[in-house]
Amino acid sequence: MKKRILTGLQASGTLHIGNYFGALKPLVDLTEQDGNEVFLMVADYHALTSVRDGELLRRYTYEVVKDYLAVGVDPEKVTLFRQSDNLYHMELGWILNCLVTVPFLMQAHSYKDKVAKGLEANAGLFTYPMLMAADIVLYDIDVVPVGEDQRQHLEYTREAVTKFNNAYGDILKEPKELIVSGVGIVPGIDGQKMSKSYKNIIPLFGSPEEIHKAVMSIVTDSSGERPMNVFNIHTVVNSALGREASYLEDLYTTHTGKYKALKDALSSDIETLIAPMREKRAAITDETVREILAKGAKKAQTEAAKKMEVVRQAIGIQL
Ligand code: TRP
Repeated sequence: MKKRILTGLQASGTLHIGNYFGALKPLVDLTEQDGNEVFLMVADYHALTSVRDGELLRRYTYEVVKDYLAVGVDPEKVTLFRQSDNLYHMELGWILNCLVTVPFLMQAHSYKDKVAKGLEANAGLFTYPMLMAADIVLYDIDVVPVGEDQRQHLEYTREAVTKFNNAYGDILKEPKELIVSGVGIVPGIDGQKMSKSYKNIIPLFGSPEEIHKAVMSIVTDSSGERPMNVFNIHTVVNSALGREASYLEDLYTTHTGKYKALKDALSSDIETLIAPMREKRAAITDETVREILAKGAKKAQTEAAKKMEVVRQAIGIQL
């Protein structure tokens, strides 16, 4: 069945190959499935809960759009837009805020974790889940692909929908999360889950030298057998290149104990995978990004306007 899909993109700086296999690639695969209508939204107003530097936020916006285009998001098939380009997000966010309670919002992980760390949470962070709910229900979305960390936000969205519909009639659609199962499949150079905060990443758009250096520093034991940390990353890369698992088996058997040669092979395979994306990314100008976003904004506004007319009528804002 044809589904409406939306996800929000957090601009978070340097991507690594873990992000690629765990989040970007599954999303690209989803956008290529026939019949689905996909919305990708840069969550720039959400970013304002933690970024307080105009130039930086602008830069992040360009970067994240370029990243997604480079890995294969097709702006002809996907509505790629900025949250801030459609003011209905703010309006509906406010409306939903008026339906949920303070104690309910206090239970949100995004808020609680910050407070638990002794950090100061701003009111924007506190109401973050209702802006996210608005992002979703504005477009009658069926499915929201997100990482495990966002599961609770989808529960909050459904709660807001229930509250709204109980008060005003059956108007908003209940979305479901699609937890992207690939998350965490790529180990970092130390064998733990690849994550920026663990400083164990292989950069996605790094130079060939940076990638080679990261691969060479993959931690290996000295058993003289198969270096599992190398092999596990290699397995993911190998299948992304469309090769059989047996190809890798042969390679690792032929080179038993020769860690340097195996790391060289992995480094070269990553380069084969990434080089075309890196090239594509370098060719995307800021101007192109602005054009794509302008087109996406129009579509998003048109779609949301239909929903908001019904919402405004129901709540008594429309006279
Ligand atoms: N909160 C999401 C994250 O941190 C980003 C986001 C904002 C989002 N609005 C959304 C995700 C709507 C899905 C749908 O990753």
